[in-house]
Amino acid sequence: MDSATVEIKRGLEGVVFTETHLSAIDGEAGQLTYCGYDIEDLAAQATYEETAFLLWYQRLPATSELEMLSNWLRSNRRLPKVVWGIMHSLPESATPMEALRTIASTLSMFDRACIHEEVGGSSLCRSVSLTAKLPTIVASFDRLRGDRPPIEPRDDLGHAANFLYMLTGEEPDPASAKALETYFVLLADHGMNASTFSARVTASTLGDVYSAVVTALGTLKGPLHGGASQAAMEQMIEIGSPRDVDEWFEKRMARKERIFGFGHRVYKVEDPRAKILREMAETVARRSGNTQWYEIAARLEERVLAHPYFDERRIKTNVDYYTAPLLYALGIPIDLFIPMFAIARIAGWTAHVLEQQHDNRLIRPRALYAGPRGVEWHEMLDRSPMVEAQPDAQCVAGRPANCPAALQVPPRFWPA
Ligand SMILES: CC(C)(COP(=O)(O)OP(=O)(O)OC[C@H]1O[C@@H](n2cnc3c(N)ncnc32)[C@H](O)[C@@H]1OP(=O)(O)O)[C@@H](O)C(=O)NCCC(=O)NCCS
Repeated sequence: MDSATVEIKRGLEGVVFTETHLSAIDGEAGQLTYCGYDIEDLAAQATYEETAFLLWYQRLPATSELEMLSNWLRSNRRLPKVVWGIMHSLPESATPMEALRTIASTLSMFDRACIHEEVGGSSLCRSVSLTAKLPTIVASFDRLRGDRPPIEPRDDLGHAANFLYMLTGEEPDPASAKALETYFVLLADHGMNASTFSARVTASTLGDVYSAVVTALGTLKGPLHGGASQAAMEQMIEIGSPRDVDEWFEKRMARKERIFGFGHRVYKVEDPRAKILREMAETVARRSGNTQWYEIAARLEERVLAHPYFDERRIKTNVDYYTAPLLYALGIPIDLFIPMFAIARIAGWTAHVLEQQHDNRLIRPRALYAGPRGVEWHEMLDRSPMVEAQPDAQCVAGRPANCPAALQVPPRFWPA
């Protein structure tokens, strides 16, 4: 294998490694479907529980089936007692995603009930358990860091309404609960995105559902994947007022900086989820009496879409753009935006794990070796240091700047 005979697909762009029956994206037509159902129909009609059923079983449930799954989810919302001790002992510096990843991982050690689960097998049982518990972890972490007691889940509320209740302590109005539920449905799955792929890689080693979900959480956290809606909101806050949009936009363009919430690897027309989120963001803003953020978003979008730079590159509004003013208007803290994405996407992640397990083949790509070959072995005494020894310098934990310079020299293949 050498560079003359191998074509490297950086970022696996365009590589198809498996078939899926879960979601399909048409980037030219601006269409997204889950198991054949159009996202617009699902957003308008389906609950999150119904969507999770669709992804896990690849068909819509009958009334009794949905009731059974909803009850199964509700009965799994509470966290084991021991986990509360860990939640309380997280350092103050813990971010919501660090907390979510840590507690999701911890849960695997307290979930032996699924081992002998007969309904749907242990992986489905674990998928249900994690899907039910993620909202509890996020809402409880937010309350604990604000010195407020966590709130017990309410079994009479649906998935989205219960999350808002656990976050605020107040039962949300039906319109807010429906708006959040629609957001959860819209983000439940999206083809072979980076976090879903990483979950499938872990599942392909016959790793368990917890390991796959923790892998996906780590992948989602990166700013090139899950962080764009938070960045879009920070952008709107920086602008501050609808009348300041134009000046901000001109300056941003002059500095050649990206505008968050626009552009997509697959969609070359508007992301179908953006249209629905735009309408919802406007409705929620008007109901709340504060349209400031929606107006900033709408004016900035107008400027972006009318600009030839974006038009020529076919850069359109993506899912993260109107997610920002929507979640903000629902009272969700900005640094919970990535965990919100995770709460929505877990149905898709776990459905992909089930699909991978059903017809597994270890995912193991290759890389073209580009390092030296046939290097001669030298005994330690014959090796010369890159920098002269500094006998007094020590590597102190947390203070790498004190390390001897020799250990700070990056390997030569790292970019400067
Ligand atoms: C999503 C994203 C990473 C897709 O990127 P991609 O398909 O790999 O496309 P590229 O990063 O190669 O960008 C192609 C061109 O469009 C430009 N571009 C893409 N998105 C842009 C944006 N949001 N603002 C300004 N310019 C953008 C790039 O600078 C590049 O220009 P060039 O051809 O002159 O170099 C990219 O559009 C982006 O960074 N968007 C902002 C972040 C965001 O909203 N992410 C959420 C995605 S759902």
